Amino acid sequence: MSQNQLDNKSAAWSALFSEPMSDLVKRYTSSVFFDKRLWQVDIAGSLAHAEMLCHQGIISQQDHDAIVAGMATIRSEIEAGQFDWKLDLEDVHLNIEARLTQLAGDAGKRLHTGRSRNDQVATDIRLWLRGEIDLIHGLLLDLQKALVTLAEQNTEVILPGFTHLQVAQPVAFGHHMLAYVEMFARDAERMVDLRRRVNRLPLGSAALAGTSYPLDRQRVAAALGMEGVCENSLDAVSDRDFAIEFTAAASLCMVHFSRMSEELVLWMSQSFGFIDIADRFCTGSSIMPQKKNPDVPELARGKTGRVVGHLMGLITLMKGQPLAYNKDNQEDKEPLFDTVDTLKDTLRIFVDMVPGIRVRPEAMERAASRGYATATDLADYLTRKGLPFRDAHETVAHAVKSAIAKGVDLSELPLAELKGFNAHIEEDVFEVLSLRGSLQARNIQGGTAPRQVRAQIERHRQRLA
Ligand code: ARG
Repeated sequence: MSQNQLDNKSAAWSALFSEPMSDLVKRYTSSVFFDKRLWQVDIAGSLAHAEMLCHQGIISQQDHDAIVAGMATIRSEIEAGQFDWKLDLEDVHLNIEARLTQLAGDAGKRLHTGRSRNDQVATDIRLWLRGEIDLIHGLLLDLQKALVTLAEQNTEVILPGFTHLQVAQPVAFGHHMLAYVEMFARDAERMVDLRRRVNRLPLGSAALAGTSYPLDRQRVAAALGMEGVCENSLDAVSDRDFAIEFTAAASLCMVHFSRMSEELVLWMSQSFGFIDIADRFCTGSSIMPQKKNPDVPELARGKTGRVVGHLMGLITLMKGQPLAYNKDNQEDKEPLFDTVDTLKDTLRIFVDMVPGIRVRPEAMERAASRGYATATDLADYLTRKGLPFRDAHETVAHAVKSAIAKGVDLSELPLAELKGFNAHIEEDVFEVLSLRGSLQARNIQGGTAPRQVRAQIERHRQRLA
């Protein structure tokens, strides 16, 4: 190839083409300006392929040496920001291969033996995504640890538990935080599980049908730390289900962030006043001097939309494609990259923000003591005295109605008056009607009693150690 041919991608597919591509079509069909972020895995995949070609006697030791040396140069050029990425060369693969050929001559041109960009790109995305999954998994562990610590500091702090956003029953703030630990633990579990399906090798599938060269696919898989090879060449080059699956798991994780963010935003509002978020995660208003807005949780809630959108994008990208590879698949990268970037940033920022959440126990308890949060406890008390639960429920409803009319809490009604609803009610009812009594009573596995919350914390600590 002449220098001129190397700069022009039509050189990569022979003299068949008789007219040049317009600039618009070049821009439309190229991916280099976003897929260049795959350069490290592209080189890693090429080196594993070249080593295997040499081992199998398909290329010479000299060619292999020239490829290794050329790739080392390319690596340092890219790291130094001196690599000349060319739109004309369409994508990261052709850019690197063309430069290798400049550096290594015919050895560079032999690298693509038994390989196609179709199995090359599928391998690159899998390798890249595997690395990102590992980072995300580590961040999910850090986040869980931060939440467990926050839970531990607030095991006995009481906040109103809501259903329908109406005060329901008192719960420990620690218990509430541990609910999110469970969600993020499942997100981490999903990452581990889907990583196995990401970590399989397409190389050796070539364009779609496999290759006539005696490649050793197992050798390449082992060199790249992959758990196995994709067993069907058509499937290997064309399906992106592993990326869809990852984006689905990322969407769920973002949904968990979004729910948590919604609560943080509510809790930080003046009407709740349950928490404060460190200033560095908030912004002010350009017009209202008193404002401190919880921008980070608001944006996490907002960014959930774009990740869920990427899931829709990717799954729709796949649905109409006949086997095997289609250029449609080039559109997998931007949504996947943005999903990874958004999730990682959100994780990092929450890992930093969670320890800076200041809890206001008085405000939470005050809110819990309005709204008759211990009414169920009174019904349970009467049930223990022998009343059928449905009757107890009815009796307590009368008591609540009368307390509402008087503008007091159930615990503020005098014993004589409570006895009027049921003669079995004794002095010990006031402990039952207290927030703390209510909390202690839910001493069941998974319940909010401080003992149970401490047991949960212990379990998580051991798991996350
Ligand atoms: N840039 C392409 C992609 O991202 C690489 C594979 C191109 N293969 C092809 N036959 N045109 O999918």
